[in-house]
Amino acid sequence: MIDVLKKKIAPHFSNLLPLSELDLVNLMEAPKDIKFGQVSMPVFRFSKQLKKAPPMIAKEFAQLLSDKNIEDVAEVTSVAGFVNFRFEDQFVQELLFSNVQKLGSKMGDSHHGEGQTIVIDFSSPNVAKPMSVGHLRATMIGQAIYNICQSQGYKMVGVNHLGDWGVQFGRLAVAYEMWSSEYDFDTQPMKSLFAIYVRFHEEMEKNPDLESQGSLTFKKLEEGDESLKKLWQKFIDISLNEYNQVYDILGIQHDATLGESFYNDKMKSAEKLLEDKGILEESEGAMIVRLDEFDMPPCLIRKSDGASLYATRDLACALYRHNEQKGDKLVYVTGMDQNLHFSQLFKVIEKLGYEWAKNCKHIGFGMYKFADGKMSTRKGNVIFLRDIVDKAIAMCEKIIEEKNPNLVNKKEVAKQVGVGAVIFNDLSGDSNKDVKFDWDKVLDFEGDSGPYIQYSGVRCKSLIDKYSSDIKFDSCVELSSNEERALIRHLLLFSDVVRTSFENYKPHYVANYALDLAKLFNNFYHKCQILKAEDSLKSARMTLVYSSLTILTKALSLLNIEIPERM
Ligand code: ARG
Repeated sequence: MIDVLKKKIAPHFSNLLPLSELDLVNLMEAPKDIKFGQVSMPVFRFSKQLKKAPPMIAKEFAQLLSDKNIEDVAEVTSVAGFVNFRFEDQFVQELLFSNVQKLGSKMGDSHHGEGQTIVIDFSSPNVAKPMSVGHLRATMIGQAIYNICQSQGYKMVGVNHLGDWGVQFGRLAVAYEMWSSEYDFDTQPMKSLFAIYVRFHEEMEKNPDLESQGSLTFKKLEEGDESLKKLWQKFIDISLNEYNQVYDILGIQHDATLGESFYNDKMKSAEKLLEDKGILEESEGAMIVRLDEFDMPPCLIRKSDGASLYATRDLACALYRHNEQKGDKLVYVTGMDQNLHFSQLFKVIEKLGYEWAKNCKHIGFGMYKFADGKMSTRKGNVIFLRDIVDKAIAMCEKIIEEKNPNLVNKKEVAKQVGVGAVIFNDLSGDSNKDVKFDWDKVLDFEGDSGPYIQYSGVRCKSLIDKYSSDIKFDSCVELSSNEERALIRHLLLFSDVVRTSFENYKPHYVANYALDLAKLFNNFYHKCQILKAEDSLKSARMTLVYSSLTILTKALSLLNIEIPERM
């Protein structure tokens, strides 16, 4: 919405600065201090051309434009190299209120991607293993990007690319034969499955014979052995059942679950394409695609023993996503340790001569760093997603029990807040950075946390519950305190922030926007009387509360965070 304001200003610069109106709009920003208004034009980069110091240019422009009496602009000022525009409060406020009324939960949406499809690969855990904190990132960053792209009009296809193929399934089958009776597969299937997996790998170190047994069994599975296939399916079902419980708690939805095995019968034709293109080479018995020209190691397509690889499956998979699932863009969300894998994959696609290689994007993310020892690491240094989420919910239950024991729906609220806390902590930093995890901060209701933001939303909800009849979207009196102006300006920035988030595939823009919104709302709430204000002022303020909640709800929903009714 801030665009509306920028577009009003741009034409007035068109004979002052050598830029198109669109470029002028793109150059404008919001002044640091709200007292300077909503829109600011930096002039630094014209200093050379105009042969003047930036503050001089800004000062002259401000004078010139002030004299022009631009419609709806209350004041034009200059500070250093910026020309600042403060619009009439009434005008800005009406722009906000009328949009909130008209768009409601569609605030921030656009038609930008209409007619285009994005296939996004996210979460994608490995069968027989519980999801790790890494998968928490793959899941939450992926779902947030899914939501954000969808809000920009793209048709989204979210795919869960299960790791459901490879020699480990031969090993698991052997382990199951040997030890399943010692474990309780009926009541604790996932725990048991993972236990035999870990046990097999431990035993294998001492007894290399097991390794070859595992490989042999996998070979049989590949050849289509019926009873092995049944067992393999059982492992998948057990795992999916566990994953679905997690997805339920986190509100995750995939449009398709197509594991690596789905591409088993599609790899031959992919390899054939490489061959026909003349880029498949033999090297020490293996088949590779050289990527020397990109300064990358070769992409291994087939091992010397004939086995296919992760990359082979991903090549077949990318072709499927482009050709069959009609993805105009293919997005992959995994840890940064797979950066090279995806760079290679995309280069192989490029070498095949497919232009759409440039529309393939890997979003690599950083790792979790645990600040305290409370979350002890398990064997192999893996921390499980489920343990974090369960613990967050349990801690919230305890906090509620202490602070608000009469709250209705305690369990549901604890879930919303616990999950919200974990998600916000994950998404508030740039995804390519590591995530600091410190329980005290994650659940600090007064700090920069999910619960703090949710609590601001709850505050809005309880006001609206009681005073909804005061809300009215037109002919409100003017709100002109600094707190109100700052909040209104921030609300106007929402669609820009969603767009930036979308363009960079980075949810943290939306997360930080929501945090700032909560802070600005609380400043407003503490400084401006709502209930004791006279009727027309109360109305305007309640409409601002409503607008804040509408946009906060939308921002959080893009991140899969809910606002409880009470907390
Ligand atoms: N299963 C992999 C992992 O857990 C992620 C798969 C990502 N998707 C892909 N098409 N390679 O690390």
